[in-house]
Amino acid sequence: MITPAEPSDTPTLARIQSAAFESDLLGQLMFGPSSAEGDAFAAAEIQDAIHSDRSTRIMKAVVDGEVAGYAHWHVYTGAMAPLKKEKTPPACSPFPGIFLSFFGQMADKRVEHGVGTNQAVLQVLAVSPEHQRKGVGAALLREGLDHADQHGLTAWLEATEAGYPLYRRFGFKDVDEIAVDFTRFGHEGSNRTVCMLRDKQ
Ligand SMILES: CC(C)(COP(=O)(O)OP(=O)(O)OC[C@H]1O[C@@H](n2cnc3c(N)ncnc32)[C@H](O)[C@@H]1OP(=O)(O)O)[C@@H](O)C(=O)NCCC(=O)NCCS
Repeated sequence: MITPAEPSDTPTLARIQSAAFESDLLGQLMFGPSSAEGDAFAAAEIQDAIHSDRSTRIMKAVVDGEVAGYAHWHVYTGAMAPLKKEKTPPACSPFPGIFLSFFGQMADKRVEHGVGTNQAVLQVLAVSPEHQRKGVGAALLREGLDHADQHGLTAWLEATEAGYPLYRRFGFKDVDEIAVDFTRFGHEGSNRTVCMLRDKQ
């Protein structure tokens, strides 16, 4: 069952986000392992979106009475534009430079591609690990895209490796990428996050 999240769901959603991104290397380097501090950071971002950004649309998936995952969208109808917000790494971030590089590039790419007007933007899609690979992520995505289609909106997101196959299946196409070279920040390897766009249907 997919329903709008309530402000009182915030701590649960924050925990789901931290737990879901534990399997994502970029997430780990930016936020560290699941911690009370990381949860508090995620909760503050959700609360801020709910209270200060009227484009915010957060839907939760409930399975057997328990919140299994959520989708945090920004729905920009007409000439609405994303709010410009400086992001500061949480104190628990093991690599604040990676955090700043990733989110800085993400903001730049959104400006470059004119993200906003008449568009639904997927900010976070997260399913708790024990509920993954049972169709919860797909159901949340389908619901959000149905909403976008009803309003004649295109859709935009930045895909992790885990999300990418799902997004392709739902008609998103690669349009750009965010590349972070971890070696610049004292860690080995690199990451490529694909920016994806879905035409209105
Ligand atoms: C991405 C995510 C939301 C998918 O949720 P889910 O409920 O597991 O997704 P579904 O069960 O609907 O699976 C849909 C498809 O997603 C892909 N997928 C899901 N988990 C995956 C993983 N860990 N690795 C690679 N592909 C994965 C698969 O293509 C899967 O289809 P399949 O099981 O038939 O192969 C979930 O894995 C998650 O929360 N991951 C961590 C956070 C994240 O990366 N979020 C996306 C941000 S852009």
